[in-house]
Amino acid sequence: MPLFDVYPLYNVTPVSGKDIYVYDENSTEYLDLYGGHAVISIGHAHPNYVEAVTNQVKTLGFYSNAIQNPLQVELADKIEALSGCKDYELFLCNSGAEANENALKLASFKTGKSRVIAFKNGFHGRTSAAVAATDNPNIVAPINAQQKVTILELNDILGVKAELEKGDVCAVIVEFIQGVGGLDQGTSDFFEQVYALCKTNNTMFIADEVQSGYGRSGKFFAFQYYNVTPDIISIAKGMGNGFPIGGILIHPDIEAKYGMLGTTFGGNHLACAAGLAVLNTIEEENLIDNVNAMSEYFISIAKTIPEIKNIKGRGLMLGLEFDFEVGDLRKKLIYDYHIFTGGASNKKLLRILPPLTIKKEHINQFFEALKKAL
Ligand SMILES: Cc1ncc(COP(=O)(O)O)c(C=O)c1O
Repeated sequence: MPLFDVYPLYNVTPVSGKDIYVYDENSTEYLDLYGGHAVISIGHAHPNYVEAVTNQVKTLGFYSNAIQNPLQVELADKIEALSGCKDYELFLCNSGAEANENALKLASFKTGKSRVIAFKNGFHGRTSAAVAATDNPNIVAPINAQQKVTILELNDILGVKAELEKGDVCAVIVEFIQGVGGLDQGTSDFFEQVYALCKTNNTMFIADEVQSGYGRSGKFFAFQYYNVTPDIISIAKGMGNGFPIGGILIHPDIEAKYGMLGTTFGGNHLACAAGLAVLNTIEEENLIDNVNAMSEYFISIAKTIPEIKNIKGRGLMLGLEFDFEVGDLRKKLIYDYHIFTGGASNKKLLRILPPLTIKKEHINQFFEALKKAL
């Protein structure tokens, strides 16, 4: 049976990985500055992770959400401790789209309203309401287009005010650093005013931290650069270092009811073991400090390369903007220099999303190759 052909593939077949590198079937080493799309947080095959997942699968890999699962409680406590987000409650699911879908659903349950405000170039996933809130008509099917979503320009505070005052908006969903869109960020004023407007208009403020969360921005969450307290925070990608796990942190103003949300696989034992290994490693190896140090180092070198016209993003969620489309450059970096980088909707932007364990030597390796490739 052929695979449903939805992904344009690079002709590379990674079969193993170790920290910042992956290896193909001929043992060729590739430097991974893409992190499998911002997923690999603590490095490929980190020993803590391998041990935790191996031990868990040997004992109990899965049971449903109908029983006590102390690993979920441990994971929730650890997220609270590392993020500093006190008093939130955790609901676990399996992916970023599912996290946002549940966030939007909760906002609608809580407010009794159904319209969503999202932003130009935003990406929130491919399920029903999440994809409708994503600014890409090519991936919105007619069944998704039934959702009521208004897409506004980032920083258009008057637009947000006018829409919220109509009284039918259940949620504003925000990426504090746009991932797929190309690393654009709103201003502090904008985010803080949107948050204030949500408060006065009975609208839930959702922080989509699926990509920017878990330390990638240089703080545990990117929203923590601003003076806002989201009602719901969505998480996924870096949370499981490749094991599918997602979740939402829910402000206690939103009260849980039995049956309100649910999932078969979400929060299973194996996913929790993976999630705990990630958080323990972020803590033990001071990976958020490393993100800040390596970000500074990366940017300092990027600034010396004349072809780089603009450096965007924060932490290890960075974009290098050129005055030409980077598709061929990315291919050259992969095939000639064995380095993975990411692309974005902004075709002139090279995205850098490495494991948070990256060191100076890897950054040097990248820039030497980039200079030659340019
Ligand atoms: C900000 C953001 N939200 C949501 C998603 C969707 O996550 P998933 O692909 O796990 O459904 C992504 C994926 O790239 C993302 O970057």
